[in-house]
Amino acid sequence: MTDLKIAVIGAGVIGRTHIETLGRTEGMRLSAIVDPMEAGARLAEELGVAAFREPGDLLEAGVADAVVVATPNESHVPISTRFLDANIPVLLEKPVANTIEEGRQLEEAVARTGVPLLVGHHRRHNPIIKTAKKAIDNGDIGDLVTAVVNSTLTKPSDYFVAWRIAQGTGGPLLINMIHEIDLLRHMFGEVESVQAMTSNAKRGFQVEDTAACVLQFKRSGMATMSVSDAACGPWAWDVSAGENLKRFPAHDVFVHAYAGTRAGLSLPDLAFWKHPGTPDWTVKMDKSNLTYEESDCYINQMLHFGDLIRGKAEPLVSCRDGVANMEVVEAIKLSANTGRRVLLSEFSV
Ligand SMILES: NC(=O)c1ccc[n+]([C@@H]2O[C@H](COP(=O)([O-])OP(=O)(O)OC[C@H]3O[C@@H](n4cnc5c(N)ncnc54)[C@H](O)[C@@H]3O)[C@@H](O)[C@H]2O)c1
Repeated sequence: MTDLKIAVIGAGVIGRTHIETLGRTEGMRLSAIVDPMEAGARLAEELGVAAFREPGDLLEAGVADAVVVATPNESHVPISTRFLDANIPVLLEKPVANTIEEGRQLEEAVARTGVPLLVGHHRRHNPIIKTAKKAIDNGDIGDLVTAVVNSTLTKPSDYFVAWRIAQGTGGPLLINMIHEIDLLRHMFGEVESVQAMTSNAKRGFQVEDTAACVLQFKRSGMATMSVSDAACGPWAWDVSAGENLKRFPAHDVFVHAYAGTRAGLSLPDLAFWKHPGTPDWTVKMDKSNLTYEESDCYINQMLHFGDLIRGKAEPLVSCRDGVANMEVVEAIKLSANTGRRVLLSEFSV
């Protein structure tokens, strides 16, 4: 089987993770880097691949079977649509668009062209998440009742460049919490309503630095989530799951706790808590750990993308998922701004 040729568009922080991942993924290889900055061309030269300043030049050169789009949010929809129209599959970073309306236009482009688009919520490809999802779907923990999700991210001051503190593109809800929302939708199903509060008191930017939210799900269950990029603590997926050890440490704590009618499950440690007999809060619960085979979620994501390109699978994280996650973020912001509970149906067309 010949290697699939993949071009990475946007050689910034996450683009470089994809570039590095392609170097370790069987059956796929980096064929080009597209970035208007000199650093992108330099990296392409180092790696011996083609360099282009803009997506149109890549299209003309015809050196990619598929593309990874890792550019700033506002360019996601125009760039992705251009490649879908050229019959080239896309792995698109989150959030899929700058606005929900644009996200819906992208959904239409996917439907119109029939070309695969995978959204880069890479955690879904983590074996820890796959194991947890299986335990939930098997009914091992009973009906999901509650979940608690924590995300304390101590970001250094040089992180806060203009787009990361601007309304519409920045803030930990859109940058970080959207991954937690994706996981909660994966476990519980669609969100019915949200109630939330946000604050910018610690950093003083336009966008929030801290948020606390309650999500109520359509099927059943509720989750509480808190996020802050101004608070110190090891309680966040990024700094506990060990997904990207070159960038982040992995603390030995749990950051998601799912409680069902029969048992409880925490993540990323996959600790499974169950009463020896009938559930009863006066009886000590037994603890065991669910087992899984370790693998790299970025490689798993890339291999899945390869399967999509070869027509062997459907996207694990679809464009609809990407837009639905954005709708929950918008509902949280609306709830925080108005002080009321917001129904997700307010966002349906
Ligand atoms: N999945 C994740 O965990 C994850 C992590 C980080 C970032 N992201 C997402 O990835 C995207 C990029 O984030 P980042 O932190 O890597 O940003 P970044 O600023 O580090 O990198 C963006 C790169 O895109 C280039 N670029 C800008 N416009 C371009 C264009 N029209 N064509 C080609 N290249 C262009 C820039 O020169 C820069 O090199 C954002 O949407 C962000 O939300 C996802």
